[in-house]
Amino acid sequence: MTSKVIASASAIGGRLRVPGDKSISHRVAMLSAIASGTSEVSGFLCSEDCLNTLSAMAALGAMVRQEDGLITIEGTGGTLHAPQAALDLGNSGTGIRLLAGLLAGQPFEVEMVGDVSLQSRPMGRIQKPLEAMGAHIELLGEGGCAPIRIEGGVVNPIRYALPMASAQVKSAVLLAGLAAHGETVVVEPRATRDHTERMLMAMGADLSVDGLSISLRRDGLSGPVLKSGVWHVPGDFSSAAFWITAAAASEGCEVIIEGVGLNPRRTALLDVLRRMGASIECHVDASAWEPTGSIVVRGARLHGTEVGGDEIPNLIDELPLVGVAGALAEGVTVIRDAAELRVKESDRIATMVTNLSAVGVAVDETDDGMHVTGGRVAGGVAVKSYGDHRIAMAMAVLGLYADRPVQIDNVACVATSYPEFWDDMGKIAEHDK
Ligand code: S3P
Repeated sequence: MTSKVIASASAIGGRLRVPGDKSISHRVAMLSAIASGTSEVSGFLCSEDCLNTLSAMAALGAMVRQEDGLITIEGTGGTLHAPQAALDLGNSGTGIRLLAGLLAGQPFEVEMVGDVSLQSRPMGRIQKPLEAMGAHIELLGEGGCAPIRIEGGVVNPIRYALPMASAQVKSAVLLAGLAAHGETVVVEPRATRDHTERMLMAMGADLSVDGLSISLRRDGLSGPVLKSGVWHVPGDFSSAAFWITAAAASEGCEVIIEGVGLNPRRTALLDVLRRMGASIECHVDASAWEPTGSIVVRGARLHGTEVGGDEIPNLIDELPLVGVAGALAEGVTVIRDAAELRVKESDRIATMVTNLSAVGVAVDETDDGMHVTGGRVAGGVAVKSYGDHRIAMAMAVLGLYADRPVQIDNVACVATSYPEFWDDMGKIAEHDK
């Protein structure tokens, strides 16, 4: 249970590459494991979350090798085998929910477990559509949470209107649809990240997108094979977001992030920071399977803005940072339509409101967001991460601007998505004490 003390930065700037994208790494591990042939993966995020998913795929029959930063996954062709023990997905909602979809079409019983945080996250959202497709799913935790026991087998295609904007639920249904005979259709209320769709299309799946509706046509697992591939995982925009926000709020500074994923369904934070006054340029290579490129951020005196509606899914993991930017801006920043934040690794509305107040920021909690009034950040206190990696890292960025040092307790959680975070903070701010 290590803590970190962050003191105010005298300068922020530099050039950086961040580790691989977490969402994409999970999907590459899972889909390569059911492809035919051998996939080669560079840039895979070797964080606790993604390594748990990789181990789960090995336990389900894929042959996984790691050598010199390159991961090789020999696919099973679609037929996984029953693991010898429960699969431990650690802290990862993406890991457990997507894998539940994949296992819905496999003819054996599996149990999936996770850490304390994962045991508090709602799983009814995947149970409902996957049971409608024919799988048997028991939620063994309190209040419809993990552990999960799945008895998979024959699944039927469905048409499912998602009750919430969730890429994890969308992906779980599509992955179950891989084993179905016929057309599985998912309709989203708002567009969410589309990494699953992009990768399935690159593997040769018959998938089409029409507005908010995604259709996958399959002939069961024995139908046309999913091709293995050579995948380069771009840097994680959600990790870059910490340095982008740190730079945006620092008048006159410049930070450049290279080799980072620029999928438009992930980068709405850039629009928000531009509205707040920062100058941000992107250079995108749109020909890659996932748009990738570099970002140049020039800081400014920020001013408040409003964030809500369709923008929310495209910056869902960056909303704690919008709170941080709001604290450093002139005027009021409003976040609304973000009730989904309450069911993340922590209740990110409550944890950010508590932490922002603790360091001296004026903030009001609402059911689906918060109102943050910018001003000086007093600091001089200890705050908790609540075991949530993104809360620990967002508060560390705010600490760079506090009048007195901010101590953050229980920072080991950053290893779930960004093990190099403190080293990179040293490179950008050189004030991590
Ligand atoms: C993710 C989707 C989002 C996001 C999470 C990763 C994914 O969750 O918050 O960090 O990889 O599909 P929801 O689908 O629950 O919104």
